[in-house]
Amino acid sequence: MKVDFSLSCKRENTNAEKYVLRNRLFGTENLIPMWVADMDIDTPSFILEAVQKRLQHPNFGYEEMPSSAFVAQIEWLKRHHSVTFLQEELLYSHSVVASINAAIEAYSTEGDKIIVQTPVYPPFFKSVTHHNRKVLFNPLKKSEHGDYTFDIDDLVSKIDKDTKLLLLCSPHNPVGRVWKKEELKALGDVCLAHNIVVFSDEIHSDLVYEPHIHIPFASLSDEVANITVSAYGVGKTFNLAGFAISTVAITNEILREKYKKVYNEIHFAQGTILGHVAFETAYMYGDSWLEVLKIHLKKNIVLLEDVCKKHNDKISFIAPEGTYLAWLDCSKMSLSDKELKEFFVKNAKLGLSNGVSFSKEGSAYMRLNFAVSSEIMEQAMQQLDFALERFQR
Ligand SMILES: Cc1ncc(COP(=O)(O)O)c(C=O)c1O
Repeated sequence: MKVDFSLSCKRENTNAEKYVLRNRLFGTENLIPMWVADMDIDTPSFILEAVQKRLQHPNFGYEEMPSSAFVAQIEWLKRHHSVTFLQEELLYSHSVVASINAAIEAYSTEGDKIIVQTPVYPPFFKSVTHHNRKVLFNPLKKSEHGDYTFDIDDLVSKIDKDTKLLLLCSPHNPVGRVWKKEELKALGDVCLAHNIVVFSDEIHSDLVYEPHIHIPFASLSDEVANITVSAYGVGKTFNLAGFAISTVAITNEILREKYKKVYNEIHFAQGTILGHVAFETAYMYGDSWLEVLKIHLKKNIVLLEDVCKKHNDKISFIAPEGTYLAWLDCSKMSLSDKELKEFFVKNAKLGLSNGVSFSKEGSAYMRLNFAVSSEIMEQAMQQLDFALERFQR
């Protein structure tokens, strides 16, 4: 498939969160926004064509999410991740974060403890406190080389009878790890032993770079599938976040009924007509587009690596195994988190996510979203190189 990722449509004249909030977050519009996890890469044209076709019918009343859309996802998950779900195990969601919130309601009560492995996507710990549950912090363990793994000993030492749920980020935002089978198995064993339900957020699972392979948590064994709620979607893979559509897969009937109770009370409903079309089309026909996208994203990783290598006295960077998010270790610059943000905004003119917003362990890090066209990436890397060249403590 021929797709050109060198350029992308400008988003300044849309309501794109990444652009609209520049002033509020960074105090200026004069920067390249590389924060929110969506892509400055156009949504694939074969999806847009299917959406346009549906627009030709003039009725947009209530619609069910069609069986064919679930089947397309089931087949995709089989093809790409060797995991099999039945249609009755899948439920529509307008947002993975909403699904996390529903799972918290379904599987815990006020005062219970929920495990979060920091640094992590902030809604993980925010959702826990919003529901008056306690966050059980189980920070990822960092090696002397700067790569991360689970800290199973720390986890075991902290679990007690009030610990009900673990929120797993797989692949991991922001550290970019694609968890290996042995790592997931160790986590699964602990959760099985302590009756802990696992919400496995696998929204980034299609964006994994060779030789790494995404292992769905529910695919580890029937026992693990029995304690798992998995979240999958097209939002990241095909830049469809604005269509607000994902699913959860729950194999265990008892867990599914508990989740459905909350789901029905909140009235998650069935999603939008155009969302259904985009979702089904993406999963039916998206394989080759995704391959080309990943080649492009890997090129962007190389561009970033080149700049970081040149300035390795200031920034250390381990290429992510998955996701389009780069976790930059800026500790050698010896700046406070506020000064670091200012350096990126004022000197590099880049709007990144502050590492510390992912938890205190993210201090001195910045997260850079490299899912952009070549044009934007080259410009951003020039600006970063220029700023680092002139940086003096
Ligand atoms: C790990 C993770 N989960 C969930 C989301 C958001 O998903 P949704 O927009 O479906 O709520 C993101 C977005 O950045 C994410 O990185």
